[in-house]
Amino acid sequence: MKPDFSTLNRDNIVAFIGDIFERRGGEEYLGEPVTMAQHMLQGATIAKQNGQPEEIIVGALLHDIGHFTSEFGTYHPDDTEDRHHEDAGAEVLEQFFPSVITDCCRYHVAAKRYLCATKPEYFQRLSTASVHTLELQGGPMSAEEVVAFESNPNLKEIIQVRYLDEAGKRADMETPDFPYFAPMVQRMVDKHLGTS
Ligand SMILES: [Fe+2]
Repeated sequence: MKPDFSTLNRDNIVAFIGDIFERRGGEEYLGEPVTMAQHMLQGATIAKQNGQPEEIIVGALLHDIGHFTSEFGTYHPDDTEDRHHEDAGAEVLEQFFPSVITDCCRYHVAAKRYLCATKPEYFQRLSTASVHTLELQGGPMSAEEVVAFESNPNLKEIIQVRYLDEAGKRADMETPDFPYFAPMVQRMVDKHLGTS
């Protein structure tokens, strides 16, 4: 059943996302030694430890939210193809978050394809599962795709979140839970929509 997004607003979007983390976050991140929630919380925690801006921390925290595609109404049990979780997530996020955060979600798969085309050493960072999905996602970008991708004004942040995506797959890392980051997520919503 497709959720009713018309009920989402600036005052309940953070709780909506927190609820997804709580109910669905324990799901396996296929082929990785972490759950989906741990993966996103690790990326956000590493960004915070590195003193990165809140846009990057929240971008890392939310970049894979579209993996819970049934929460976003795009999933169908008979799906046999890539469900483009990056678009599913970004479509909901863009109503509430600055474009830099939405772009970190929407383009995190493209960023992998971009980095594989432009930085040979980057490929070594990819997990086995990520190498596998790279093929399904179209492999490294062509020269034309690279040029087009570099025109995105949020390129730097998109790449930063992509590196956090790779970093947040550690079996041994403890992180705070979503509520710790919730005030920061709300700040990003307020920044985008203006404080009421
Ligand atoms: Fe990820």
